Amino acid sequence: MRIDILTLFPEMFAGPLSESMLGRARENGLLDIRLHNIRNWSDNKHNKADDYPFGGGAGLVMMAQPIFDTVEAVDPGHEARRLLLTPRGRLLTTQSARALAACPRLLLLCGHYEGVDERIMTLMDGEVSIGDYILTGGELPAMVLVDCVSRFVPGVLGSGESAEDESFSKSLLEYPQYTRPASFRGQDVPEVLLSGHAANIAAWRQEQALEKTRQNRPELLGTFGKYYENKGK
Ligand code: ADE
Repeated sequence: MRIDILTLFPEMFAGPLSESMLGRARENGLLDIRLHNIRNWSDNKHNKADDYPFGGGAGLVMMAQPIFDTVEAVDPGHEARRLLLTPRGRLLTTQSARALAACPRLLLLCGHYEGVDERIMTLMDGEVSIGDYILTGGELPAMVLVDCVSRFVPGVLGSGESAEDESFSKSLLEYPQYTRPASFRGQDVPEVLLSGHAANIAAWRQEQALEKTRQNRPELLGTFGKYYENKGK
């Protein structure tokens, strides 16, 4: 999968896109991630890429010209699914990440400052938010999107690992995990996990996942949650 990232701050991406799973996926050729500095496409002699908002207001707005030129140079045939990272976008979810992973190409535009000249929306296919909070720019959200989407690209996760078999795919949070030693500073691993009894282990994990979800994210449980709440009555 090819991902082009358009940003004013390409240096921000160095660590997260080079380490661990994403680094390996890039080395293996599963991910072809290309960074583009929007400022390089500015036709202003000082490489200016932002200006004051018409109508007044705080902050600067990213200008249309450098963004149009970057997008047209990077994706002239509009082969990529083009997305603006912005808090006003549609929420990134497991479902939307899975759908994006099926696209052969993505183009991610990192919004900044007080926003982006609205005319660039004629270039874009959609807007994505990673949550109901405001970050200083779209770079961290773009990294989150790349990480989340990459897990659904065949071969990116190690063999035996599945993007599906985890929290949110089944509307439940993850159950607790333990590794050696079986006893650490007076805390023992639950007996059932040492029992080798597969059915009991599966039942314990299901119960723990439900309990964790009820505690931290009860809204995920929906009608299943009502069944669970009533069970104890
Ligand atoms: N830019 C600033 N905040 C953001 C968010 N929550 N999601 C996507 N882009 C953003």
